Amino acid sequence: MTAEPTRRWLDATWPFVRAALPPAPARVVEIGCGPSGGFVPALLSAGHAADGVDPEAPAGAGFHQMEFERFAAPEPVDAVVACTSLHHVADLDVMVDRIAGALRPGGTVVVVEWARERFDERTARWCFDRLPAGGDGWLHRHAARWRESGLAWADYLDGWAAAEGLHRADRIVAALRRRFVVRSLAAAPYFFADLGLDEDDERRAGIALTGVRCVASAG
Ligand SMILES: C[S@@+](CC[C@H](N)C(=O)[O-])C[C@H]1O[C@@H](n2cnc3c(N)ncnc32)[C@H](O)[C@@H]1O
Repeated sequence: MTAEPTRRWLDATWPFVRAALPPAPARVVEIGCGPSGGFVPALLSAGHAADGVDPEAPAGAGFHQMEFERFAAPEPVDAVVACTSLHHVADLDVMVDRIAGALRPGGTVVVVEWARERFDERTARWCFDRLPAGGDGWLHRHAARWRESGLAWADYLDGWAAAEGLHRADRIVAALRRRFVVRSLAAAPYFFADLGLDEDDERRAGIALTGVRCVASAG
């Protein structure tokens, strides 16, 4: 996402993340904070001690430019946050084991994810019909590539996901359940920020809700 959609996305998802966290001050690690720094500034403002771990993390205190699998937290943390990063990782089971190893007993896992397995053709067409003019975000690219491919939507999507090694959300949740107790799991809007819309616009559209919001705990 470019800067403005990223800001809109983080602002919209932060209330869910904040509400799921233990009271401040908690020690929180964000997996895949991205080049914008993700929730780390908001976590610090809310009184938490926060680290952002991502090969693309920005420079600065509290940011670690590495994959989470290589990150060694100096002490067990109270919560781990992962926002649309788990579907990109190499091995889900390894990642979930690493999260479990980083958390204190009873610690919290807050996950915002994308269920690409629910991204059907009707939903894709709804998105592509609403792309802001002149944009060059990921949805713009897929609209053009799908059109050029001549493939059925499901075949195009599966080919892209396989080439990128993207994990399905149901597999992410299954991996989390192996090590954690899932406390809440809900479908949510996902595309609104890229389309310049509000979450409610997407909720009311009658399309598939492909966002996932999950809170789990270690024991
Ligand atoms: C779609 S971006 C999400 C960025 C940000 N969390 C957001 O919601 O805007 C996914 C991020 O996950 C990061 N990532 C992928 N695999 C990772 C890993 N193993 N450890 C840490 N970060 C990872 C990528 O570098 C990328 O910045």
